[in-house]
Amino acid sequence: MASIAIIGQGYMANAHAAAWASAGQADAIKYICTPRPKEGAVAAATSGQYISDLEVILRDPDVKYVSVTTPTPTHKDIAIALLAVGKHVLLEKPIALTLQDALEIEAAAKKSSGSLMLAHVVRFFLGYQKLHEASLRGDLGNILSVQARRFSPKPTWAAWLGDESQSGGMLLDFSIHDFDQINLYLGRPVEVFAMQTSPSGPAEITISYEGGGVGQVQSFMNAAPGVPFTSTIDLLGTKGLAHYEFSAVSATEESSSGNGASVNSWHVFSESGNTIEQIPSDDPYGRQIAYFLAQASSGGKYDLISTPAAIAALKVSLAAKQSLAVGRSVIIA
Ligand SMILES: NC(=O)c1ccc[n+]([C@@H]2O[C@H](COP(=O)([O-])OP(=O)(O)OC[C@H]3O[C@@H](n4cnc5c(N)ncnc54)[C@H](O)[C@@H]3O)[C@@H](O)[C@H]2O)c1
Repeated sequence: MASIAIIGQGYMANAHAAAWASAGQADAIKYICTPRPKEGAVAAATSGQYISDLEVILRDPDVKYVSVTTPTPTHKDIAIALLAVGKHVLLEKPIALTLQDALEIEAAAKKSSGSLMLAHVVRFFLGYQKLHEASLRGDLGNILSVQARRFSPKPTWAAWLGDESQSGGMLLDFSIHDFDQINLYLGRPVEVFAMQTSPSGPAEITISYEGGGVGQVQSFMNAAPGVPFTSTIDLLGTKGLAHYEFSAVSATEESSSGNGASVNSWHVFSESGNTIEQIPSDDPYGRQIAYFLAQASSGGKYDLISTPAAIAALKVSLAAKQSLAVGRSVIIA
C-alpha cells in the first residue's frame, strides 16, 4: 500500500486518522502536516512523522492519498497544490468559503492525474444511506418534500470556528450537510429563504427546487449544554414517508454532561411495506475512507459524493447567508 498524509492535526485530523486505522491503514500514515507539530498527537497515527512543510509531501512519490483537515480558508491552496502533483485528495467539507474558490479546486481536480473527493460524511451514515436506498428503489415514489434538522452545542475546540470570516458561520459550516442531503433528493435548488432569531440563534431555511419540491432545514449550533449532537431527516413521497434520527453525545459533550445517551434509528412507511430499524453501531468515517480508497484506486469517480454536488450544497449555503443579510428570498443562478 502507498503512503498516506494527513494535513492538519485537530478535530477532523483525529477522525480521519481513526478512519484510516479502521480501514487497516494506520501504519501507512507517513506524515501529519501541521504548522505547530507540538500541538498534540493524532492518536491513531501511531507511526506518522510530524512535519510543517507541505513541500515534503508534494515531493514524496510514496504519498498517494491525502486527507485535508485544515480550516476552510486553507482548503483551496492546499488542495490545488496536492492535485497539481497527482495526489488523491480527500478534502473536508465545506469545499471552500466562496464559489470562485470551489470552482478553482474543481478545475484543478479535472486537470490532475490524481483525484478529489469531498468528505461529506453524512452521505456515509448508515441511516442516511438506508433512506437513500429506499428512495432509489422507488419505495417512496416521487419525493415531494424533505425536512432536515441539525443541532449541537457550540463547538469549543477551535477559535477559528467561532469566526464567521473563517468558518463561514453556521449556514456554511454546519447546515451544508443538510443542504447536500436535500439536494440529493430534490435536484436543482432555485430559490432560498432563510430566517434566524438572532446571530447565534436557530435558523430556518426553505429551499425551492426546479422540479417543484420543497426543502426545509432547521439548524442550531448553540444548543444548551448537555443537549447531544442531533440530526434528523424526513422524506415525504407520493408512495410513503421515511425518517432517520441520530443523536449521540460527542467526545467534547460527553466529558461535560457524561450522560452518554444516543439514538440511531430509521423507518420507512410505504405502499411496499413498513420497516423500523435501530442501528446498533456505525462507522461513517471508516466507510467514507474505505470508499475513497477504493474509488481512488480505480479511476476516482466518487459517484456517492461528486464535486458538483459539494458545490451545489455550497451554493445553497451562500444563498441562505445572503437571504439572511437582505431579508428576502434569493435566487440561485
Ligand atoms: N465532516 C464533518 O462533520 C466536520 C466536522 C468538523 C469540522 N469539519 C471541517 O474540517 C475542517 C477542519 O476542522 P477541525 O474542526 O478539524 O479544525 P481544527 O481547528 O480542530 O483543526 C485544524 C488543524 O489544521 C491545522 N492547520 C491550520 N492551517 C494549516 C495549514 N496551512 N497547513 C497544515 N495544517 C494547518 C491547525 O493547526 C489544526 O491542527 C474544516 O473545514 C471544518 O469545516 C468537518
